[in-house]
Amino acid sequence: MSSDTPNEPTPAIHLDQTLRPSSWDEYVGQTAVKQNLHILISAAKERGTPPEHVLFYGPPGLGKTTLAHLIARELGGNLRSTSGPAIERVGDLAALLTNLTAGDILFIDEIHRLSRSIEEVLYPAMESGVLNIIIGKGPSARTLELPLPSFTLVAATTRVADLSAPLRSRFSGGVFRLEFYAEDDIAQIIKRSAKILGVEIDEGGVREIAKRSRATPRTSNYLLKRARDYAQLKRAPLSKQTVSESLGMLEVDDLGLTPLDRKLLAVLIERFNGGPAGVGALAAALSEETNTISEVHEPFLLQLGLIERTPRGRVATEKAYLHLGKPVPKDLNQKLL
Ligand SMILES: Nc1ncnc2c1ncn2[C@@H]1O[C@H](COP(=O)(O)OP(=O)(O)O)[C@@H](O)[C@H]1O
Ligand SMILES: [Mg+2]
Repeated sequence: MSSDTPNEPTPAIHLDQTLRPSSWDEYVGQTAVKQNLHILISAAKERGTPPEHVLFYGPPGLGKTTLAHLIARELGGNLRSTSGPAIERVGDLAALLTNLTAGDILFIDEIHRLSRSIEEVLYPAMESGVLNIIIGKGPSARTLELPLPSFTLVAATTRVADLSAPLRSRFSGGVFRLEFYAEDDIAQIIKRSAKILGVEIDEGGVREIAKRSRATPRTSNYLLKRARDYAQLKRAPLSKQTVSESLGMLEVDDLGLTPLDRKLLAVLIERFNGGPAGVGALAAALSEETNTISEVHEPFLLQLGLIERTPRGRVATEKAYLHLGKPVPKDLNQKLL
């Protein structure tokens, strides 16, 4: 497939990569993380050594993978990408590590999915730059230490709590939490994406998408593309009006909630009497995976203050009742204690 054939439709994957920031300037927000990375990388470059290993965590779509790309680009090393589930056996990791070239960046996405036996191979590689190979069995077994090329491990996870303490502690370059984005930052990302996609959108349209983007860049890019499709077929400009219509059809509401978010709130309020309810119980009531609820939906509902975490489980707040147009119970404050 050649990309210079004029009439060929651009594959979606290519578009996604086009929207991914390729310089630090284009990477909006996350100021604290960027500053810390800048110091880590600049100091390491000055010393002529690879930076120490870093871990990024936070909900999907906030820019973890993009940071791995930016780090590799800045260091001028190759980015070798893999993920926890892809490394099934110790041999898979050994092959990856021994095939690195000095100065490479190894990116392991979903690192919480690594098995314990594989983690144990990773420890000495991260700490001392060696691969320990056990030869033989029983009392005559020996450990062979194979030196590895110097590399930087960049890892990402949506579930930092699932990482073992020993693994976490080996990210000596830093463990960084990515935050949800301010609406102004999302607006800036939408304007940049619109320019790259070659679509005209007015300020009202930008603001409307920003408001409904779950404070998440991936969502804002997705909504922009869907609104563009809608406006294109309507032969209408991309304005507050058309954005509002198209996002209404996608059932994304004023706060950016999807049907599943709203159903979660409704189930919490109706079936669990406002809570407290455990994530597992909520997921079961919704016939959804617990992980989907705890990694995608819950963080945003917490961020908006629609639910609260208490020691006994999740509780719907006054804002949740009001958003769904339900009467606020009198004993609500008791529950939030
Ligand atoms: N800080 C940012 N500035 C601009 N665009 C961003 C930023 N973070 C993420 N994006 C956009 O969102 C998309 C998803 O980001 P990604 O790094 O894949 O998220 P994650 O790995 O955390 O799920 C990227 O392709 C990019 O277009
Ligand atoms: Mg990612």
